[in-house]
Amino acid sequence: MGRSNRAGELLIRMRAGETVPLQDTNPYVREACAMKEVILTAPELQKGFPRIFPHAASPVWADVGCYFGETIAEMAGNVPGFNFLGVDIRYKRVVKSGRRARRLGLSNLCIVLCDAEMFLETLPPGVLAGISVFFPDPWPRAKHRKHRFVNRDFLSLAASRCRPGGLFWFKTDQQEYFDEVEETAAECGFHPDRVPPAILGGRDYDSVFQRLFNQEPGGVFQAVWKAGELKS
Ligand SMILES: C[S@@+](CC[C@H](N)C(=O)[O-])C[C@H]1O[C@@H](n2cnc3c(N)ncnc32)[C@H](O)[C@@H]1O
Repeated sequence: MGRSNRAGELLIRMRAGETVPLQDTNPYVREACAMKEVILTAPELQKGFPRIFPHAASPVWADVGCYFGETIAEMAGNVPGFNFLGVDIRYKRVVKSGRRARRLGLSNLCIVLCDAEMFLETLPPGVLAGISVFFPDPWPRAKHRKHRFVNRDFLSLAASRCRPGGLFWFKTDQQEYFDEVEETAAECGFHPDRVPPAILGGRDYDSVFQRLFNQEPGGVFQAVWKAGELKS
């Protein structure tokens, strides 16, 4: 079976070196292609928020690594005056997040199938009210740390894609990952802010992985940082 153009757009957004499942062998690729109103490709995102959300002027929050969409759907239901983008690299997770948005009738939530860094690159500067990244894959072994997506490139893009005063909310169970992100966030122009952020209703959002790590002795490390003025 051939691929539609839309599948092509979805598939080229994979990480470099990743094998590409075909539509006829992976039912989630087919479903992702069909869920046009809720699952976006990077080129569709590039066309701008008016084509995506009924209330295009509302502030936009992105949850990167949204998994099955539980946390971003909770945010979208709790803060109807904002638009929300859930971002993930895995077809099954994106499809399940999209199904959840549909089931809950959340017109202020769309899901983007995209690599984290490419997602930020696709956006124009200064458009996000905030970004959350909860429990990104930790890659705890030193030789694997290069795979962590919350790195200097990501944080520098995050600072530029946030509007002035926009927020970055980060959670992890790895103290050493947290320390590294804290130091790099400051170097990228972020300043410490209040946890949890008032603009999301001033309450915490327990993610699936947070519920796992809450039971662990090490616990959870988290912070919110605020972006400064955009650099010209
Ligand atoms: C450990 S899970 C955490 C899920 C959720 N945020 C939570 O706290 O329960 C990490 C998620 O990040 C996604 N992910 C990993 N690398 C990514 C990348 N480069 N771009 C976008 N998402 C990515 C994975 O597919 C997975 O859904």
